[in-house]
Amino acid sequence: MLNKIISMFEEKDSFVSGEKMSKKLGITRAAVWKKIQTLRGKGYKIQASQAKGYKLIDIPEFSVEELRILIKGDIGREIIFLENTDSTNNIAMEFADKGALHGTVAIADAQTRGKGRLGRAWVSPPKSNIYMSVILRPAIEPKDATLLTVMSGVACTAAIRRLTGLQVKIKWPNDLMVSDKKLGGILTEIKSDPDRIIFAVIGIGINVNIRLNAFPSEIQSVATSIRRELGKAQSRTFLIAEILKEIERWYEVLISAGKKTLLEEWKQCSSTLGKKVKVIIGKETLSGTAENIDAGGMLMLRLPSGILKKVSSGDLTILR
Ligand code: BTN
Repeated sequence: MLNKIISMFEEKDSFVSGEKMSKKLGITRAAVWKKIQTLRGKGYKIQASQAKGYKLIDIPEFSVEELRILIKGDIGREIIFLENTDSTNNIAMEFADKGALHGTVAIADAQTRGKGRLGRAWVSPPKSNIYMSVILRPAIEPKDATLLTVMSGVACTAAIRRLTGLQVKIKWPNDLMVSDKKLGGILTEIKSDPDRIIFAVIGIGINVNIRLNAFPSEIQSVATSIRRELGKAQSRTFLIAEILKEIERWYEVLISAGKKTLLEEWKQCSSTLGKKVKVIIGKETLSGTAENIDAGGMLMLRLPSGILKKVSSGDLTILR
């Protein structure tokens, strides 16, 4: 119902009479007024005039109703929105287990136990960032699961670059970086049989409007946010819609035999290739030159001995 009201405003960009709204929605004018009040409570600025009706003046920085209107494709056709949850990845895994459709997305305003890679916590305060998890049901083998992370990294990079103009780069395997600081990350989890992925959950965390002093002190020097970089707040609604649109696009590329195109695009976005790097893999530390990524998304590291070593995961630092 709220979606319909917002859509009516967007069709017109001028006053819409209370009578027209009540007819179109099949509710009384008093009920329309109540809905308008609900929207105002959600941050919509709506002007009311006795003679002319209602006019939308401004939209909130995040609105799930607005987001639902913006989504046109399969990715995001079902949105599970929670003000607060432990982790959107956990929610998405649960829903996927119960049969949620390909393209279902879990979004939260805040997470109490946001998960990062390598068992780390993901700082997830309310009203500031994107925390979302996309359920995919790709017909690919478990060994190619890394390509889903590669695909998501490319999609997020394209979307953020387009909407903000920021020169986002990908630090292998999945860190979204701006000016060598971490803007976001991707955590892919899968459920699989030995020979096929049953479903994958792509968890995306992006620092959008958070102020640096809201991060724990050890993170402040290595993290950034879009607001920090641009000096002004951004709409999470538009960013999420753009990211989902790009995931739709790059997922199609991946599954329609476009692995090569995808990997080429990833290389274009990479901050890592050609650099001297250090990779911590459990208790082992390897140093060398990040030469390439292979067809499965693994890092190809040229060791000082000349040996080319493939690395599937780890914590990578670019050496100066
Ligand atoms: C990383 O360590 O770089 C990956 C961070 C992934 C964080 C996102 S936030 C939404 C989703 N839910 C989680 O618990 N984690 C991912």
